[in-house]
Amino acid sequence: MVLKLRAAALATRERRRNVAALARECRAERLRPLLVLPEGARAADGGELAREALATAGSDLLAARLAVALGAVRCEVWGEAAGLFTAGPEPLPSARLVRALDFEEAQELTAAAAEPVFDPRALAPLASAGVPLHLRSIDLPAASGTVVAKTPPPEGPRVKAISVRRGVTLVALDTARMWREVGFLADVFACFARHGLSIDAVSSSGTNLTVSLDPTAPARDPAVVAALLADLLERGDARLIGPAAALSLVGRGIRAILHELAPVLELFEELEVHLLTQSASDLALTVVVDEAESERLARDLHGLLFQHVAEGPLFGPTWEELHAGRRGCAALGAAGGESAGEEPPWWGARRAELLALAAERGPLYVYDAAGLETAARSLLALPALDRLFYAVKANHHPGVLALFARLGLGFECVSAAELEHVRAALPGLEPARLLFTPSFAPRGEYERALALGARVTVDNLHPLAAWPEIFAGRDLFLRLDPGRGRGHHPHVRTAGAQSKFGLSGGELERLPPLLARAGARVVGLHAHAGSGIRAAESWGDIARFLAAAAARFPRLAALDVGGGLGVPERPGQRPLDLAALDAGLARVKRAQAARSPGLELWLEPGRYLVARAGVLLARVAQLKEKGGVTYVGVETGMNSLLRPALYGAHHPIVNLSRLGEPATMTAHVVGPICETGDVLGRSRRLAPAAEGDVLLIANAGAYGRVMSSRYNLREPAGEWLLA
Ligand code: LLP
Repeated sequence: MVLKLRAAALATRERRRNVAALARECRAERLRPLLVLPEGARAADGGELAREALATAGSDLLAARLAVALGAVRCEVWGEAAGLFTAGPEPLPSARLVRALDFEEAQELTAAAAEPVFDPRALAPLASAGVPLHLRSIDLPAASGTVVAKTPPPEGPRVKAISVRRGVTLVALDTARMWREVGFLADVFACFARHGLSIDAVSSSGTNLTVSLDPTAPARDPAVVAALLADLLERGDARLIGPAAALSLVGRGIRAILHELAPVLELFEELEVHLLTQSASDLALTVVVDEAESERLARDLHGLLFQHVAEGPLFGPTWEELHAGRRGCAALGAAGGESAGEEPPWWGARRAELLALAAERGPLYVYDAAGLETAARSLLALPALDRLFYAVKANHHPGVLALFARLGLGFECVSAAELEHVRAALPGLEPARLLFTPSFAPRGEYERALALGARVTVDNLHPLAAWPEIFAGRDLFLRLDPGRGRGHHPHVRTAGAQSKFGLSGGELERLPPLLARAGARVVGLHAHAGSGIRAAESWGDIARFLAAAAARFPRLAALDVGGGLGVPERPGQRPLDLAALDAGLARVKRAQAARSPGLELWLEPGRYLVARAGVLLARVAQLKEKGGVTYVGVETGMNSLLRPALYGAHHPIVNLSRLGEPATMTAHVVGPICETGDVLGRSRRLAPAAEGDVLLIANAGAYGRVMSSRYNLREPAGEWLLA
């Protein structure tokens, strides 16, 4: 047997213990594992097992080749993931482990993945030698994992998994010349080859050819793609479509079950499908749609295809179930404190109070003052930051505002009404602690903000060109478009050519005469990439981008790098690394120190400060079993918490009344609103719920109550601040 451990395998004590246990198990079975250790791992790290190490520069491919050369009975790859799932578990915790696949299915699935669970190149040598590949998890050593073999157990044709490949560009060519012209396609494909572009999927009709480009480096280079387009325009009407995403339903014999996919096709009713292919290998059905639609489509497809699937020889537990076993409670992972998953969440200790509040007040958002303060202090402690503004849009509860005011935060507002609300909640607040960052607001709101003495950010030329008089003698901030948006969902990415926010480079060129005519000065630059970002480098990137524009503005005093700091939402997600965020900002500050001494760095987070400190409590109103699915209906739904319906957001849910009891029920948690989308959580594991039990929906302090409505004339949940 050949064992391959991934680089991160020995990173923690728990993992080292698992590796040692593995060694003992091998000895008990009289197996002599040949271990391929990851690069950089010291032999001693692997304990007893490592003494049998063969090489230190390991890779999946090397392990596969060794397994073949040695005639191994199997090749085991021990990584972080428990194997292959019915969908990428990152966006879908309800994805199930796929226990068995054949080599071609595994190839189809992993070749499409941005970060495959293992190197797909390792499959070919194993397949030709007939050595099965076992994918196992170093964190979940008891989980059976995925076995990729020549002949997995016969199951009959069915879709085994959905893969999503983002960042796809399509090239479409319309021309009547295609029809019966010998060599036309060869000539067109030669154009792609000349520009070094590799084609992935192809579909053609009498007058149209559409291909998707493999996401290689040339395909990402706008100059290369533009040159290709110029060539193609000589041959017909050529255009680019993108960014798009390719969704593949993978499973052998898919042609035999096309008729069963009728409900799946209904999902395309309101979607533009750019390309549809079904390869002769009969392994996959692929649709290409706009990238912005792909996440929602993948979730809906997964629901349709897998929500009724039970555990058996082909499918294992869900990703959430697997990790719930490890952490004790699936919900805790994303709902915990600073280091999500490690610390128990605050609400466990305050269960009795919360139950009493829910009984007395009905559906209720409850905020924990201590949690708000901890989050704020963790950001106030970052040395590279000079000022912290709270993005009021995330939660405008007056008690929350008062707490942040006491800690010295400023307030970022996006409407005149938010400014007035903050002033009413915090009488006596210095106007300099108000920041006004509107988008397409009418003139009167700018006038009001300026009259109040708030700092005003302009993100369009229109206000300066059309109402120069209101900016006479004023200090302004400019919002620039950093070009690349980030965030948890396309709706919350606020940069790039497709977004309405910020000034582009071209608009900046037209700015100086407008500023001069108005008699306004630019004292700050601002950019905001999006919301729910957990990549720590994002804010350093923004600061560097703003610093590059700083030379144009001699009076500059501050760079506002926006908000968007994410918190873990799904089990297993890593928290944002604040130290790395700070280091990124500090680097820019140091580089800028000589040119603009004293230039301040500002941050304006919303979610990070309030999300984890808030929960939504709702009592169970009714239960139902239909079509093999259990529904737990609670007294409030999308009218209180819109995020699951709007973004497919994941909020951990627990049965607070039965906290600590085993989560043996799997149910969709739904609200009372007359919309099919009124689902707060799908396929959730709960302690068995009964009418009157209080469910707690965690991580709901940000963009919860503020986005609620009276839809169906149902009052949304109230609010309560726990001191
Ligand atoms: N600054 C600007 C200019 C913004 O547009 C926003 C959020 C923030 C700061 C604060 O972003 P945060 O730190 O909270 O991510 N409703 C969505 C989030 C929309 C965010 C809009 N802008 C959600 O529920 O995820």
